[in-house]
Amino acid sequence: MAKTIITYGTFDMFHIGHLKLLQRLKDMADELIVAISTDEFNIGKGKKVMIPYEQREEIVSNIKCVDKVIPEESWEQKLTDVEKYDIDIFAIGDDWAGEFDFLKKHCEVVYLERTKDISTTQLKKSLANFMSIPKEDIINAFEVIELLKKDFE
Ligand code: CTP
Repeated sequence: MAKTIITYGTFDMFHIGHLKLLQRLKDMADELIVAISTDEFNIGKGKKVMIPYEQREEIVSNIKCVDKVIPEESWEQKLTDVEKYDIDIFAIGDDWAGEFDFLKKHCEVVYLERTKDISTTQLKKSLANFMSIPKEDIINAFEVIELLKKDFE
């Protein structure tokens, strides 16, 4: 019988850790549903996103292994989603290990190892560091790159 898997997350500044997670999830089932935290839900969690929900939704919907995207609007909806979408497996990265064991009465619950050395938080930090570099230094660096490129032409 066809298996359905569901996962939840913000997927802000979509990165390789997100992609690898989604691909591994799809390998575990036939249908992959991704619940994406809305901007309002993130505000409630004290999380400020860089990319608005509509764009995060469009990006994730267009990932080859994703079959369906739904909004995540509350902490409580997981149980109703599991029933509504007839979910066989609930899966999420192991930064949430143990947090959703209460769903075990209704479906299989799996925590997957995260991809190392990448996260939205890290990307935001790198961006903040980059933005703190004086504008002139960035322009100079790009000019040097252009000159170097000419040497190789
Ligand atoms: N994830 C992963 N590997 C990473 C980063 C995220 O497997 N390197 C997984 C998370 O465990 C979660 C899903 O991707 O199941 C969505 O995570 P999300 O919180 O949106 O991404 P993060 O990069 O962890 O974001 P933040 O730094 O804001 O927590």
